[in-house]
Amino acid sequence: MRSPRLAVPPLDLPGEAEPSFQADLRRALAAPPHAISPKYFYDAEGSRLFDRICGLPEYYPTRTECAILQRHAADIAAQVGTGSDLVEFGAGSCSKVRLLLPRLQPRRYLPIDISAQHLQLAAAELVSAYPGLVVVPLAGDYLGPVRLPPALPGARRVGFFPGSTIGNLAPQEALQFLRGAARLLRGGGLLLGADLVKDPAVLHAAYNDSQGVTAAFNRNLLARANRELGTDFDPGGFWHGAFYNAALQRIEMHLVSRRSQRVRLAGDAFDIPEGLALHTENSYKYTVAGLQSLAGQAGFRPAAVWTDEQALFSVHWLQAPDEMDGRKDG
Ligand code: AVI
Repeated sequence: MRSPRLAVPPLDLPGEAEPSFQADLRRALAAPPHAISPKYFYDAEGSRLFDRICGLPEYYPTRTECAILQRHAADIAAQVGTGSDLVEFGAGSCSKVRLLLPRLQPRRYLPIDISAQHLQLAAAELVSAYPGLVVVPLAGDYLGPVRLPPALPGARRVGFFPGSTIGNLAPQEALQFLRGAARLLRGGGLLLGADLVKDPAVLHAAYNDSQGVTAAFNRNLLARANRELGTDFDPGGFWHGAFYNAALQRIEMHLVSRRSQRVRLAGDAFDIPEGLALHTENSYKYTVAGLQSLAGQAGFRPAAVWTDEQALFSVHWLQAPDEMDGRKDG
């Protein structure tokens, strides 16, 4: 059997050089707003914990989105069309696309992910599961400027952005991402998963699971800093604070200091008072109309939406017209 490690290495997307965990953490500790990007959750341990979160009974988004994709695959393919040049933003393990491949039958699949190693393995596994599928993995940050290989002649470009990852972007960042995607996908469209506004008790449970996996995921940010930056955080000295901010339609995650403590980072000491909350993540929730309105502002034409019976999660088909703002662009 061929080893999956022999697969073609991912191409590098042009973009931002290594994001600086150290500089961002220093800023977050030094002064308000004490906030750091959730992208730093995802080292190998963080990705493993996130995979566990996806299988938790309280964390409904993953299984609900998969059920929607599975149940409506034929209808989705009817809207999206077959034979596309399919681009996935933040593909991770390339697992959700498997639910669509048999119906969508893309001409080519281009998964983009920040982790080149993870991506190469996932792409190789996909190729062995779907031997005829052309897979071109692209390593890089899809939130930066994305330049794709030229589209295949006659194939529509279709984007896939599942998992409500859009919810981890501030509305202005989400708009910026969608604008870039609409430009990139002209003549095709974007299949997008977005978590819905719902009963705060359901949201609270999803981000405060009874096994404490989400708390471990949150605290892993500090453990990762200890591993990679040589800080001396006591992750147990922080409690996991996750709550729904109804006014802003978002779950907020924080790490709250249980006592006053001092942490060292690259030769500097930071005094952290009891109760200081390090803001680690926002997870915005959308109404269907709200998401469609944001997509409309970005230049998409919302064309179809699928939800589950309890209206927990939504999958949107957003067409990207050939002509943006009434003019041919580029
Ligand atoms: C990846 N992202 C969509 C997840 C979310 O629900 O916002 C990350 C997560 N954070 C805590 N649990 C899951």
